[in-house]
Amino acid sequence: MAFLAWLAVMAAAAFVSASGSGELTPDFYSETCPQALTTIKLVVGAAVLNEPRMGASLVRLHFHDCFVNGCDGSVLLDDTDDMVGEKLAKPNNMSLRGFDVIDAIKAAVNTACLGNVVSCADILAVAARDSIVALGGSSYDVLLGRRDATTASIDDANDDIPNPFMDLPELVDNFESHGLSLNDLVVLSGGHTLGYSRCLFFRSRLYNETDTLDPAYAAALEEQCPITGDDDALTSLDDTPTTVDTDYYQGLTQGRALLHTDQQLYQGGGGDSDDLVKYYGENPDKFWEDFAAAMVKMGNLSPLTGDEGEIRENCRVVNQE
Ligand code: HEM
Ligand SMILES: *[C@@H]1O[C@H](CO)[C@@H](O)[C@H](O)[C@H]1NC(C)=O
Ligand SMILES: *[C@@H]1O[C@H](CO)[C@@H](O)[C@H](O)[C@H]1NC(C)=O
Repeated sequence: MAFLAWLAVMAAAAFVSASGSGELTPDFYSETCPQALTTIKLVVGAAVLNEPRMGASLVRLHFHDCFVNGCDGSVLLDDTDDMVGEKLAKPNNMSLRGFDVIDAIKAAVNTACLGNVVSCADILAVAARDSIVALGGSSYDVLLGRRDATTASIDDANDDIPNPFMDLPELVDNFESHGLSLNDLVVLSGGHTLGYSRCLFFRSRLYNETDTLDPAYAAALEEQCPITGDDDALTSLDDTPTTVDTDYYQGLTQGRALLHTDQQLYQGGGGDSDDLVKYYGENPDKFWEDFAAAMVKMGNLSPLTGDEGEIRENCRVVNQE
């Protein structure tokens, strides 16, 4: 009986994937390239060991891919004579990192799979998970089977990626436009447990909103980010930029948010967002659980599946016919 039920489920799953409609599955490559996931993990592990910040950069790449027309690898496309891609968009220009690591993963996977089997969009999703695990986060199953876009858009990247000067209602609207809730906004912002921001993204709050900042923290930031110059000086987004933990949320409750948008999540007035920030700060287990679920949800944004798009041979360029 149980076996028959299982058989029915497997038959239905096979039908769905054969007909090419939208479902991603954790075992998508188990037949076509069983080595895919271990290969990606090895390259990510080496890259993060070599430079811990790379883990942060790979997580952010997946986020910026998913928020622009879905998780379709569009962020990786280089500009061409006919197309200005996403790399030069305001949130990405001189900011996104890790493209060379993605190239190395793609080359390793093409070798391990004896061919071009694994999409660049899936590589981004797996590399984000493996980065989180390499930096102390808990693991989760990544859903797979995304295919790669054949185009990218600088305008869509400028319109769809949230910027660090937004207030809470704008952040909520932006996330809602991607099918993500306030809870998803707060838990995914926990991605800022990793990595750094440049001075130019937090200067204005430093010199205009000192009231909302812890004074000692503000003084330290002013050293690192003067009122003019040093646009590219880096400051960590929480106290422990190479460890996945809940220090980010604890910092927010202490007025120690680096970005305006981070502090918007906790304003001390007791709103729903404040409650969520406190809750994740005090419950690391819940953060692990909900962060993983929210990463999977973000990874499900409008994937190309079935015979849509293509599996790019080189993540930077559309396949030549
Ligand atoms: C809620 C809206 C968000 C805004 C406004 C925002 C904005 C920013 C900004 C301005 C930076 C610094 C970039 C630079 O200095 O070049 C940054 C870094 C980063 N963001 Fe976000 N972000 C948001 C949400 C997220 C989400 C959802 C994730 C992942 C789940 C994420 C992951 C990261 C990571 C890991 C870094 C550090 C990257 C590195 O050091 O290379 N962010 N973000
Ligand atoms: C990207 O950043 C560089 C350096 O700040 C700047 O010179 C260039 O104009 C920017 N490109 C775009 C398209 O904004
Ligand atoms: C402070 O805010 C004003 C108005 O929003 C803005 O024009 C100015 O550039 C900000 N100052 C800094 C140092 O960013």
